[in-house]
Amino acid sequence: MRTAGKSFFTLGQTPLTRLLINIDHVATLRNARRESFPDPVDAARRCEAAGADGIVFHLREDRRHINERDVRGLKAVVRGKLDFELSLAPEIVGICCDTCPDLATLVPERRDEVTTEGGLDVLQHTDAIRSATLRLSDAGVNEVALFVDPDLAQLDAVRATGAHAVELHTGDFANASTPEAQRWEAQRLARAAVHAHALGLTIHAGHGLDYQNYPLFAATVPHVAEVSIGFAVMARAMMVGMDAAVRSMVQRVKGL
Ligand code: PXP
Repeated sequence: MRTAGKSFFTLGQTPLTRLLINIDHVATLRNARRESFPDPVDAARRCEAAGADGIVFHLREDRRHINERDVRGLKAVVRGKLDFELSLAPEIVGICCDTCPDLATLVPERRDEVTTEGGLDVLQHTDAIRSATLRLSDAGVNEVALFVDPDLAQLDAVRATGAHAVELHTGDFANASTPEAQRWEAQRLARAAVHAHALGLTIHAGHGLDYQNYPLFAATVPHVAEVSIGFAVMARAMMVGMDAAVRSMVQRVKGL
């Protein structure tokens, strides 16, 4: 832990926060040319070698980036934590059960979206989420997380689903248009994290976190066990290489 004044770990967040890297965009680039490279499995190996604590991928119903072959490859090579992001679609839940990752993160999914937009409506879909969570847990997935907006009523509803963790959606924080708005969104995330922690839920966070906004996030939001970061790291990797891009995000997250 750094000393007061220099540290951005002021509210209980520690260098023990794990950094999981999302490698979907490696597959997006490969698929844009219907090629066999770049390979997301190779990218995952490089991310872990550069210090990432684990790997995230999203198997979408339309298979726009990651495909089943990638899923099998990732399961075989990832040594740290493997996070399988998925919708409630029964087919994908079945593939996740067969894969048995360390963590399954349930997210909303719409075909025409560019990326995941907003968190799950847990209040509206409690029963469907509870059945998917049960199916995953029965298949041996030890940790199921729900991707949710930093909304206290949504967090209250998570307990009824049997999920173990929440991934707080940091998109509004990341997209805030002024420094004041960004501080306000960080406080909203902090209140949600305190609430989720009191409910006994493990807290993850992600979407739009990057090299610039991470320090404010870490300084404001407590209890974060894990962050999931993809686009910012992959965009930097195009310029400086995967190793350097991952290492500098590791330094941010671990406060090095
Ligand atoms: N968490 C979830 C649930 C996501 O859907 C995504 C985007 O795929 C991320 C985290 C990572 O977001 P980004 O690519 O903006 O870092």
